[in-house]
Amino acid sequence: MLQKPKGTYDIYGKRALMMNYLRSVFSSLIDKYNVSYFETPMFEASELFHRGVGETTDIVSKETYDFKDRGDRDMTLRPEGTAGIVRSFIENKLYADSLPLKAWYMGPMFRYERPQAGRYREFYQIGFECFGTYDSMMDAEVISIVYNFLNLLGLKGVKVNINTLGDKESRENYHKALTDYFKPYLNDLCDDCNRRFEKNPLRILDCKVDADKGFMKNAPKMTDYLNAESKEHFMKVQEYLNIMNIEYEINPNIVRGLDYYTHTVFEVVADIKDFGSQNVLAGGGRYNNLVENIGGPSVPGVGFAIGVERLLLALEYEGLDKVQANPVSVYIFGASTQEKKYLMSLANELRSNGFKVDIDYESKSFKNNFKRADKINASFVIIIGDEEVKTNVLTIKNNKTKEEYKVKHDEIIEFLSEKLGDLDEDK
Ligand code: HAM
Repeated sequence: MLQKPKGTYDIYGKRALMMNYLRSVFSSLIDKYNVSYFETPMFEASELFHRGVGETTDIVSKETYDFKDRGDRDMTLRPEGTAGIVRSFIENKLYADSLPLKAWYMGPMFRYERPQAGRYREFYQIGFECFGTYDSMMDAEVISIVYNFLNLLGLKGVKVNINTLGDKESRENYHKALTDYFKPYLNDLCDDCNRRFEKNPLRILDCKVDADKGFMKNAPKMTDYLNAESKEHFMKVQEYLNIMNIEYEINPNIVRGLDYYTHTVFEVVADIKDFGSQNVLAGGGRYNNLVENIGGPSVPGVGFAIGVERLLLALEYEGLDKVQANPVSVYIFGASTQEKKYLMSLANELRSNGFKVDIDYESKSFKNNFKRADKINASFVIIIGDEEVKTNVLTIKNNKTKEEYKVKHDEIIEFLSEKLGDLDEDK
């Protein structure tokens, strides 16, 4: 039997309902911030990720799905959403429009990682990017969007951790301090870290292999190398977060798994007992040089992405995953050719008037049809027989109370509106 590839999953049933629910809650929230929806291709020229997202990161050096297409072009399945939107921002000259540009997305990303709970090879992100403002209001707003979204979902067990990587000057000073510090330990560092030492020593702090080695504890801290401007930017982010009553902690160990960040970085972690190691639900930050690095003008950016699977897992842990499909208003059945024609037209009419309708396609027995109506949780059942076709008077049954009514066809919309309204009020 053919099976899905390792690290992927199918979306149906409860998961499909939950994903649609997340999309709809997020899209109505993000609309309040005047943000438009944005979609970019799932694959891009490999160069985009290798140049833009960072050669020294595991995500790009070890985890991308790279392939040659039939035209011998080097392509990569997107491992994240930011780079594609930046590419589009430059290619479509969106920087020439009125800025800031605010965009959100929801879609699959691909990383060749070792699968485990909360870690997949194809996974979904809900993300947001804003181009065109250096102001720390936006750094704080980005964090607030994630915070408010999780709140709307009712998720309480989360922690917001923030940090700053400073501007270019601060980072260069910090890089120098790191290389000076790690130089005597090169023999003790893993091969990857020896490579990172040359290209981006910050990544050494993020290494899983070397994490527990004694000398890591005393490595220089970014906060000691921030220039005045970077310090002020970070202070202001905190002030804005305080004003919005957003709880957070400063965690100097957050460096993030991608190379493009400047100034504010943040992660939202699940603070739930036994949740497991993949507990970072969302991450993001500012990237003031990425647009320029990818070949565009110097325009700053800031954004985040939420891992949908991890969010779903957290909602499940907290019992917040009880979303149900909208109930079916009416189930209609009838058996003969004439009856089926009649019911088809009636179903079409009801659906056009906003009712959720399901029908019997298979001319099943009475008993089977009532079973089906229960299974799909239909509020009403309409039975089409000879009589109904002839007289245009419908037989309609409340599927819960089993009360039966006779209603003229041209009064059915009014009848259902009234009755279904009553049902809503009873809830
Ligand atoms: P990221 O931290 O690499 O950031 O990914 C964001 C989130 O995606 C993670 O916090 C996690 O929840 C989820 N995630 C990552 N890898 C996997 C995986 N293999 N399986 C399941 N979930 C996963 C970014 O991607 C940046 N583009 C975020 C950003 C936007 N920064 C600025 N703008």
